[in-house]
Amino acid sequence: MNVARAINIEDLRRLARRRLPRLMFDWIDGGAGDKTALEQSVAQFSAARLSPRYLVDISKRSLAKSLFGRDYALPFGVAPMGNAGMFWTGADLLMAQAAREADAPFILSGATVATIEEAAATAPGHVWLQIYPARDRKITQDFIARAEAAGIETLVVTVDLPLPAKRERDIRNGFGLPITYNFAKILDAALHPAWTAQWLRSGGMPKMGAWAAYAGEGASGEEVARFMTSQFFPVHTWADLELYRRLWKGKLVIKGLQHPEDARRAVAAGCEGIIVSNHGGRQFDRAPTPLATLPAVKAAVGDKAAILLDGGVRRGADIVVALASGADFVFCGRAILYGVAAGGLAGATRAFDILRDELDRTIAQIGITSVDALNADALQR
Ligand SMILES: Cc1cc2nc3c(=O)[nH]c(=O)nc-3n(C[C@H](O)[C@H](O)[C@H](O)COP(=O)(O)O)c2cc1C
Repeated sequence: MNVARAINIEDLRRLARRRLPRLMFDWIDGGAGDKTALEQSVAQFSAARLSPRYLVDISKRSLAKSLFGRDYALPFGVAPMGNAGMFWTGADLLMAQAAREADAPFILSGATVATIEEAAATAPGHVWLQIYPARDRKITQDFIARAEAAGIETLVVTVDLPLPAKRERDIRNGFGLPITYNFAKILDAALHPAWTAQWLRSGGMPKMGAWAAYAGEGASGEEVARFMTSQFFPVHTWADLELYRRLWKGKLVIKGLQHPEDARRAVAAGCEGIIVSNHGGRQFDRAPTPLATLPAVKAAVGDKAAILLDGGVRRGADIVVALASGADFVFCGRAILYGVAAGGLAGATRAFDILRDELDRTIAQIGITSVDALNADALQR
């Protein structure tokens, strides 16, 4: 099967698993600890029931949604995902292109292989930048300045990584940056020749583009990855957030807050958006699910900030559930990454097509003609 014949996200996941070495696939697919945060986030979406209303003219439907004063054709976009270029050469830019063609936002990860400037030029008006603050604060400030110079309008600060996650599949597989080699990994690569041929053709460990500028003249992919890793997990506090607010003139979004009091404080500090997220269950196994967190965060901030949500979306119907539950916009992580890892641009586009089609069918089925009209009435009481 190729990506064109995938009929759902699970098909794309299977294709990605087939193509990628286990070391790589597990890094995408895995979760922290017992994976309960990951599994429950997915399960809570599929357990949600929607309440159909019939005898409504649903012949014309709209999936368009405005966010931060701009119209998008869809109410969902791509969540930031680091290292994507290791799974398919150029994956960051291919996902940006798919998002541009779908007229949806694409959040470029702070651990991107593409540079900030390349991504912004690939999908003007669609790229947001996510940052992981660096130990060297000057680098973070430079990321912010580069984003502004590249015409990016929305900055996302991810706060839910105070330390490295305990993802047990990665520990067992020996996943780390830069990628190191041993017999098991070489065998793993040999069993996945399509991925391996592409990896070798493009020169092995890709250069983390946004970080290359700080790693020293002519640094190799390995050296840049080592440098980036050495900059991770700084102590990062509300004072830093206030600094970013002063430096960044565009929209500021905070990603990964769970507690309503933190949400209130982020809005008071000038954030215009909050991504309710448990990092796709990758970071903290005992984190609440995004659907469980959403109502309290929404109640805490009211209309003072846009409430965005990610984590566990595998079906278009999940997007409907999130919007009906009060999210203003939804982001998809693995659903798109499985696509690009399975088949590059065609796979990312296929993921968008699948989710769009399922979303459209779902609203039609429940008698809704515009995603803007979704509210708690659509949920089974
Ligand atoms: C492979 C992978 C890499 C990720 N890298 C980042 C990252 O660099 N920055 C970030 O804020 N979140 C990162 N995330 C979390 C996503 O932005 C998002 O919160 C999560 O994937 C949503 O869950 P879902 O995959 O179930 O949609 C990553 C997720 C995955 C799967």
